[in-house]
Amino acid sequence: MVTLRPYRSSDLEALYHICLVTGDAGRDASALHKDPQLIGHLYAAPYGVLEPDRVLVAEDAAGVAGYIVGTYDTERFAARLEAEWWPALRQRYADTSGLTEADRGRVAAILRPHVSPADLVAAYPAHIHMNLLERLRGQRVGSRLLQAWRDQAKADGVGGIHLGASAGNSGGVAFWTRSGFVPQRQVGSTVWFGMDLA
Ligand SMILES: CC(C)(COP(=O)(O)OP(=O)(O)OC[C@H]1O[C@@H](n2cnc3c(N)ncnc32)[C@H](O)[C@@H]1OP(=O)(O)O)[C@@H](O)C(=O)NCCC(=O)NCCS
Repeated sequence: MVTLRPYRSSDLEALYHICLVTGDAGRDASALHKDPQLIGHLYAAPYGVLEPDRVLVAEDAAGVAGYIVGTYDTERFAARLEAEWWPALRQRYADTSGLTEADRGRVAAILRPHVSPADLVAAYPAHIHMNLLERLRGQRVGSRLLQAWRDQAKADGVGGIHLGASAGNSGGVAFWTRSGFVPQRQVGSTVWFGMDLA
């Protein structure tokens, strides 16, 4: 039995863990990283810390095994990250000696955060990320998490949602397409999607 529920601050470690073990285009990225938190610093933890009301988790008898995180206002969130999230991490990771190549790639993204294409942010101001451990996949948990997040966003007056998926993540790309997101374009290795909520 899988339950969906709002985020609690005690879920933060689960966010970091799930993000790491799904972080290589949907596969386990643990072997690539010496620092197990680096991926989560980018794609999961800041939402739990700064946007806890925009995080839902999926929990089974063994614990939290999936999440959807996001923000209604991508531009405002980016500004908050600059003020409240990146500065401490930039200090903490000033010395990258001893880290792996994959770690250093994540540190580079902390120094120069990736930005969504401006036209997509204008058309679809919200964005999301979703990751499930393997044991939850293929049982419509992702669909339930997405529907709950989307219904709340629509009720709160959000006009649209965008997201970026790794082009190498064929399962993720298939899921977003099946879920009604419209592919917009590919930039580098990222496929961008948009969904109108109006
Ligand atoms: C991608 C993910 C969120 C999908 O969640 P899920 O609960 O497994 O998906 P659902 O069971 O709700 O499937 C919904 C639809 O997507 C399709 N789908 C889901 N995963 C798929 C896959 N790997 N390959 C092809 N289609 C897939 C399903 O067949 C279903 O289609 P249908 O509506 O025609 O029946 C989940 O598998 C996951 O977290 N994967 C690892 C992390 C990841 O890749 N996240 C996305 C990053 S962009």
